[in-house]
Amino acid sequence: MRPRHLLIGNWKMNLGPKEARPFARELKAKACATSRTDVWVTPPTASLEAVASELSGTPIAVGAQNVHWANAGAFTGETSPLFLADLGVKFSLVGHSERRTLFGETSEQVAQRTKNALSAGLTAVVCIGETEAERTSQQTEAVLLEQLTPVLDVVDANSAVRVIVAYEPVWAIGTGKVASLQEIQDAHRFIISTWNSRKLSRPAVVLYGGSVNPGNFSEILRLPEVDGALVGGASIKIDQWLSLISIAEETPVGQ
Ligand code: PGA
Repeated sequence: MRPRHLLIGNWKMNLGPKEARPFARELKAKACATSRTDVWVTPPTASLEAVASELSGTPIAVGAQNVHWANAGAFTGETSPLFLADLGVKFSLVGHSERRTLFGETSEQVAQRTKNALSAGLTAVVCIGETEAERTSQQTEAVLLEQLTPVLDVVDANSAVRVIVAYEPVWAIGTGKVASLQEIQDAHRFIISTWNSRKLSRPAVVLYGGSVNPGNFSEILRLPEVDGALVGGASIKIDQWLSLISIAEETPVGQ
């Protein structure tokens, strides 16, 4: 359980530098004075510099959507965590389901990306979640374990404080079909108990992601196992994003 809610906006491949800069300026004006919510954003790589420079000196952290397992070399199209750190980037998503399903990233690669992000001093937001077919065939916990285990194998007592898990059922991402409170609670409890079995230096931090919007966020955030949310679609519409921040601000932490 974190002492503050955490709301991460995953912009995906939206808001190029020309749109990202005014969007970041608006966030700077309207989303910095929060008392119980940390607000983080992950612009696409091409917009990182613009957003990081607009938001530098503010409490809003800027992250990448992926990070490579090596620091330099012949890896066309990839981004080193050292380059991200140079830009003022503080964290990176790893293992987002779009990376796993559209780009074939394996759980082992996700773990290697996580390991290198942590070595470079970044925080890693590790995304895990089952497909609809896996849920229907009662494979949810097996899938979560398969995705989480290699990551936990590379985390040590020092780096555990910089690991966040995002539970994102694949069938709930971008579909408008949010998981039920029971499904969220069960998955988060499973993730927390898996984390606890490793005797790491601090408790698990687990976000929910998948069709979060201002209509469903409050009840999700009230679940005691939920530390915040990873939000796609609603994070690039400024009104919806500001509403989500207000909802988090109205929700006591640790409910
Ligand atoms: P969504 O995306 O909020 O649009 O469902 C969430 C995500 O992919 O992280």
